[in-house]
Amino acid sequence: MSDQKDLFAEEPQGSSFPSADAERRIQALRDEINQHNYRYYTLDEPSIPDAEYDRLMRELQALENENPQLITPESPTQRVGAQPLKEFAEVVHEIPMLSLDNAMNAEEFAAFYQRLQDRLKTTDDIEIACEPKLDGLAVSLLYENGILTRAATRGDGQTGEDITQNVRTINNVPLKLYGDDIPARIEIRGEVYMPKAGFDAYNEKARANDEKVFANPRNAAAGSLRQLDPKVTARRPLEFCAYSIGVVSDDASLAETHSGILEQVKTWGIKINPEMAVVTGLQAAQDFFDQLGEKRHSLAYEIDGTVFKVNRLALQQELGFVARAPRWAIAYKFPAVEEMTELLGVDFQVGRTGAITPVARLKPVHVAGVTVSNATLHNMDEIARLGVKIGDTVIIRRAGDVIPQVVSVVVEKRPADAQDIVMPDHCPVCDSQVEKVDGEAVARCTGGLVCSAQRKEAIKHFASRKALDIEGLGDKLIDQLVDAELIDSVDDLFHLTLEQLSGLERMAEKSAQNILDALDAARNTTLARFLYALGIREVGVVTANNLAAYFGFLNRIMQATEEELIQVPDVGAIVAAHIRNFFTEPHNLTVIDQLRKAGVVWEEKEPQQDTGDLPLSGKTAVITGTLVDSGLSRDDAKDLLQQLGAKVTGSVSAKTDFLVAGEKAGSKLTKAQGLGVDVLDEAAFLALLAEHGITPASGE
Ligand code: IVH
Repeated sequence: MSDQKDLFAEEPQGSSFPSADAERRIQALRDEINQHNYRYYTLDEPSIPDAEYDRLMRELQALENENPQLITPESPTQRVGAQPLKEFAEVVHEIPMLSLDNAMNAEEFAAFYQRLQDRLKTTDDIEIACEPKLDGLAVSLLYENGILTRAATRGDGQTGEDITQNVRTINNVPLKLYGDDIPARIEIRGEVYMPKAGFDAYNEKARANDEKVFANPRNAAAGSLRQLDPKVTARRPLEFCAYSIGVVSDDASLAETHSGILEQVKTWGIKINPEMAVVTGLQAAQDFFDQLGEKRHSLAYEIDGTVFKVNRLALQQELGFVARAPRWAIAYKFPAVEEMTELLGVDFQVGRTGAITPVARLKPVHVAGVTVSNATLHNMDEIARLGVKIGDTVIIRRAGDVIPQVVSVVVEKRPADAQDIVMPDHCPVCDSQVEKVDGEAVARCTGGLVCSAQRKEAIKHFASRKALDIEGLGDKLIDQLVDAELIDSVDDLFHLTLEQLSGLERMAEKSAQNILDALDAARNTTLARFLYALGIREVGVVTANNLAAYFGFLNRIMQATEEELIQVPDVGAIVAAHIRNFFTEPHNLTVIDQLRKAGVVWEEKEPQQDTGDLPLSGKTAVITGTLVDSGLSRDDAKDLLQQLGAKVTGSVSAKTDFLVAGEKAGSKLTKAQGLGVDVLDEAAFLALLAEHGITPASGE
């Protein structure tokens, strides 16, 4: 809030009447907000973060409160959204779809609660319904005689768009309600949103196919619903969750509380949020907010705050509405995950395989509790897609543990001297030529092991947890060792001496000895870990495991032809070529030889018999959720699938053939749906087992 003035270089000038200043400022704010509304609601291309938008809106509200004579009906404070798109039929809401006022901190929330008590003339604790504020798009569903007859967006709150055909494609929206006491006519309101896993999978695919990437799950939901072709919507992993009702016919016998009504709605087959709770009093509500805030990043969908509603309908009625929002509800927002800052420059980082990644150097900005000064720009294609230049104002997004991303550019704020971002033609570390292979998004340093950056990264990878797991040998220490020319390649690690290590800056003899011990312990490894540690391009943990299981011996892998390699699950032509290339490079052969000489060992054994004849040979499966009916643990289920020849992996990808989804399946299920992977519920899974003579209940 405090920096809001910085946003506007031009303060109103020239008049000595404060109200004229206020009038000009109000007009400027309205123009700017209208512009953002259009971008946000109509084009689904917001140009500023929500937090920034909220600040503008609140400044306007404050100014209008001080100068009520300046309020006009067309002010953005007096209505909810923007005009509907022209292509969809219009729907006039029988009861307007309102918005919510915001609270940004505990004081503002306490003030809201105080206002409730004042208006209700009570000092008693008030019953409050607490709900996550889903970050999607508000939608109204009309059910007539239990049948979904119309779905509409909120639009400007009075008039929305008819998106029935699209909403019918959302799997968790019932086309027909079930259960008892369904009113003849009832409108259910709620949010349509794209769960995080579906969003990530969608964007991953879009980026690979050079298609439009969505900046955030909210835009993805909005963009998916505003498709004229419902087939497009149907392919998007959307969900609906109800949070209130609208118009309802007289025959309805509804509960007397908000939460009670939602429980009724739930019995008719409509999803309501499982995090919902009813609490009494301010402190309990604040506790709910704090707890949900901690849980926020582990939820399967994005939320941007908590909505608090007075639970008793009679009290809601007593409290009533103001222009755009009810007095009985508030959206208490979490710290924003998107903020605006300046792109000061771009560094080019060299990775293990020579890939050069542009990294944004940012004017430090606070995003969701962390100061962000760097963000990945992925590659030059991404830079072109964003159209970003040095000097630009950019929107940074940090959701959960994900690395901060640059999601878009505020083009309106581009300075005249903004500079293009250019990929250097020589490596910034070793000065070797940079090459870009046609059809690949990445540019690479051709220096190979000449390049100290590549050497450092290769050694870091070798020592990392999933590779040889050399405890205490962190990134900083490896940088030091390479810079001091004590090591050049991974095999040198095993010849380090106590003197060399303890001679390093800030290295006590005890720590040096610990590292030598850790190196000693790491000599005993597995073939899979060793393969992964070598850092062959595109050979991750899963592929390394598969290679080890398939061949059993390192020499066999080293000698395998591409045709043989392709037989291994997960290995395609490109990976096979990378593996082949790696083992034809003389330097790599020397390093492997040296590692063996240095005492690195692993067990080698004949691979398990060819499973080619088993019923599920060649199939890759993933198991998620809880198998309630059979009581099988996921490990048991895995064993059974493996008995049938399937490969069972931990994460869903385009190569997954089917997902076994038990109860409470979460992000894996959403991702599978997003990728169009077959999903077996527990009954289907048990049927599949039974088909092949396995009935777990009988103890097999
Ligand atoms: S209640 C009159 N409950 O937030 C009350 N809204 O700024 C109307 N939203 O348009 C809304 N989760 O799109 C309500 N649990 C929730 C919500 C929620 C998300 C959205 C909704 C609404 C906007 C209000």
